[in-house]
Amino acid sequence: MGRVMAKSEIGLIGLGTMGAALSLNIADHGFAISVFNRTTTTTHEFHAEAGTLADKITPTETPEDFVASLASPRAIILMVPAGEIVDKQIAALRPLLDPDDLIIDAGNANFRDTQRRAETADKAGEVFLGIGVSGGEEGARFGPSIMGGGPKAAWERVAHILTAIAADYEGTACATWMGQGGAGHFVKTVHNGIEYADMQMIAEAYGILRDGMGQSASDIAKAFKTWNNGPLQSYLIEISGEVAAATDPKSGAAMLDVILDRAGQKGTGRWTAVEAQHLAAPIPVIEAAVAARNISTAKPSREEGEAIFGAAPQPLDGALTLDDLEGALIAGKIMCYAQGFHLLNNASAEFGWELPMPEVARVWRAGCIIRSSMLNDMATALTETPDTNLMFAPFFADKMRDTHGALRKVVARASEHGLTVPALSAALSYFDMMRTARGTANMIQGQRDFFGAHGFERVDGGSDHHGPWGS
Ligand code: 6PG
Repeated sequence: MGRVMAKSEIGLIGLGTMGAALSLNIADHGFAISVFNRTTTTTHEFHAEAGTLADKITPTETPEDFVASLASPRAIILMVPAGEIVDKQIAALRPLLDPDDLIIDAGNANFRDTQRRAETADKAGEVFLGIGVSGGEEGARFGPSIMGGGPKAAWERVAHILTAIAADYEGTACATWMGQGGAGHFVKTVHNGIEYADMQMIAEAYGILRDGMGQSASDIAKAFKTWNNGPLQSYLIEISGEVAAATDPKSGAAMLDVILDRAGQKGTGRWTAVEAQHLAAPIPVIEAAVAARNISTAKPSREEGEAIFGAAPQPLDGALTLDDLEGALIAGKIMCYAQGFHLLNNASAEFGWELPMPEVARVWRAGCIIRSSMLNDMATALTETPDTNLMFAPFFADKMRDTHGALRKVVARASEHGLTVPALSAALSYFDMMRTARGTANMIQGQRDFFGAHGFERVDGGSDHHGPWGS
């Protein structure tokens, strides 16, 4: 009688970088896991390289064997490229599964796809979760931040595994159910939009240090390492210091000086900007970051522009200090997160998710790419003043009082010297607009009524008035 293989508690399909890392993390926490990959050699290579964890891992060569190796009711994680591949994988699994088997899409899915898949599963009596997993390969292996979406009962079936493998912040797992349907993937999308903005503002500070202050990459690394010991402490500040300190093994030059200045993007930041427009949620810092990535790809045009107009960047001649930059980044970060949580709030109302805002901040405190010490203060503020724009919460209002002068000085001096600061500028304008009780949209209303008779409200009351500009 052949040895009866014990059934695995969970399965994972897709042994790419993230899938392999997550599988090892799951096995490392004592859960028996079955794995399947379209390319069988990848599966066997993964298992052969799993070391002592191999005993917890069942490699399978066919979808049928994979499903048969799982204890019922089954739980299957898909770690495959977002888009139609997910739909094809679900369709391929469907005939092999029982009604209460659970499929979990852990890729960077567009939340609208997840909403659709959730609705399809619900109508078919199937069970589907969409979870955002943040932290890159290291996070997936040693502790990601996990943002769950779908039926709460389905989340609770695998919560013991997801909380076990998630990052830990002072004893609390960074893994939370965010709401129904695409809630988890939406929160992950906004995480990525904020990630773009954080990265862009750091890049703007880097540009000021390099082109305005004439600092070398190694000097810049020192600045980032210093900032990482203060209010700006974060994974992105930390790794930016590492990137600046790195040397190109090929040429011996500073690695930063060898990397071409054209940014890639898989699209998650763009999705954030698109959804914010649908939800009428102003996120100018994130939108500026997405636009900056798009402009960065226009390298030939930028070279043409420099030849026509002359290079923009000019030396600052001492007009700014490192403290100015640190203050500007603090203020810009607060503006960016205030906008991100405003977007989450609008989405929560629009889609009926009741997103747990303090929990969103808590889940981001460790494991994810935007992890930072400031997120703990945000969780506190979102708990104490839940219906207030983050920038008006006492703690952050005080921070803004202390730092908006630096933001203004950096934006002004940088702009005077052709040092591009689109995200920091957007942060400053947002801050000033949000503290201008009498704005200028009355001119917009007058224009709209003049050419389109769209009507306007009057300051002395009433709506749908029209101006005296003729029929
Ligand atoms: C994460 C990251 C990850 C993202 C990469 C690349 O949370 O682990 O956000 O999900 O895909 O950072 O994203 P871009 O190519 O869009 O920069």
